[in-house]
Amino acid sequence: MKIGIRGGNVVSSDGVMKTDIIIDGEKIAKIGENLCANEEEIDEIIDAKDTYVMPGLIDAHTHFDLFVAGTDTCDDFYSGTRAAVAGGTTSIIDFANHYRGENLHEVKANWDKRAEKGCSCDYSYHMSIADWNEEISKECQDMMDEGITTFKCYMTYPDNMLDDETLFKVLKRLKEIGGITGVHCENAGMIDALREEYSKDERLGKISSHYLTRPAAAEAEAINRLLHLAEVADTPVIDVHLSCEEGLEEIRAARSRGQKVYVETCPHYLCLDNSVLDTDDFEGAKYICSPPLRTKHDNDVLWDAIRDGEIQTISTDHCSFTWEQRLMGKGDFKKIPGGLAGVELRGPLMYSEGVDKGRISIEKMCEVCSTNPAKLYGMYPQKGIIAEGSDADIIIINPNKKQVLSAETQVSRCDYSNYEGKEITGVIEKVFLRGQLVAEEGRVVKENQGKFIKRGKYSL
Ligand code: URP
Ligand code: ZN
Ligand code: ZN
Repeated sequence: MKIGIRGGNVVSSDGVMKTDIIIDGEKIAKIGENLCANEEEIDEIIDAKDTYVMPGLIDAHTHFDLFVAGTDTCDDFYSGTRAAVAGGTTSIIDFANHYRGENLHEVKANWDKRAEKGCSCDYSYHMSIADWNEEISKECQDMMDEGITTFKCYMTYPDNMLDDETLFKVLKRLKEIGGITGVHCENAGMIDALREEYSKDERLGKISSHYLTRPAAAEAEAINRLLHLAEVADTPVIDVHLSCEEGLEEIRAARSRGQKVYVETCPHYLCLDNSVLDTDDFEGAKYICSPPLRTKHDNDVLWDAIRDGEIQTISTDHCSFTWEQRLMGKGDFKKIPGGLAGVELRGPLMYSEGVDKGRISIEKMCEVCSTNPAKLYGMYPQKGIIAEGSDADIIIINPNKKQVLSAETQVSRCDYSNYEGKEITGVIEKVFLRGQLVAEEGRVVKENQGKFIKRGKYSL
């Protein structure tokens, strides 16, 4: 099948060029002016005049089919990847969760089984490490050989966290084999002590207790510790889901020492703030995630940091729970399962709140949502760029249309929206995954076309 995309504004991280694209099968075959007029045997021509044509977005932080806090996330690979393509994301990297006692091959097999339920976008996993021994250390190389070249460590959560000694050993081992890890940075001891204190009185039933027991200082301290561990291990590292200015200051300090630090943030740390948690009713439970939502000032600081190149990637940390699941924590803030549904909304929000509002350029959106994730996670130039020979993962954004976000129209199984009723500018009209049209205007038109991506080493 040969498809022509005519006259769109083709976006890369370096610029925008009005031109034509020819897709042949799964790949981008040609890019150039007037190609659609001259090319023979085109099966279909799409008029992309006055639209942005961008490489398919990559979400490098999802949790599909994760058993956590006594329940399973409501989105699995089937519904989660359908939601992904509906919102312009053509590749996701999920966190394969290491339950202690398992070896890494078992973790991978476990996640392969989940993905077999059907994937509507291309996918890979980061291998999480919750335990450390000789066998796991050796298996890190096996994972690299299988194309799982990035890892995940937690500095909080009792079932996942690594102590400093273990984290340091992991960092050294990954340096040896050319891997890299993302790290969830929050100081577990401080948070546990605060949670105990807040559980002794009426604060136990308050939603605000979630963010008050996870202060920005807890995140900043853990980032500081991680970066000093990485300094001595002499390895780059990724701080995932940065939420606050205090954490960013620690990253700036490490960079001024000469360290290489990659930083991810998420749309909810840009578009939402903790005022939604200051409610007397239980509504705020819809916004529980860790690190918690911060202040409007932090939103602004993070937008500026994206614009200035201090933040390299935007992912969603999609970890969705229905309203009924959130109710498990009524009366005890510690029992509310944490995480937000975001995989479907990252493209629309980054365009509307970022590009349309003038906070970032369209090139920057392309860089942080597609090109940089492809480079950092070893998929470039197969993904993350519109170039001859690359996968034909392409989205077409109409900047002149508007839409209203609502649970009623979303594809995710989550039964509410953190952005209910919000009018946004820009509609992702078409989504191509390796040359196939898989979504149109937020609806999936062809499902289960996703394939596992065998990734290389990081190159950002
Ligand atoms: O609250 C969140 N973010 N849940 C997902 C797990 C994590 O911490 O990334
Ligand atoms: Zn996390
Ligand atoms: Zn996460």
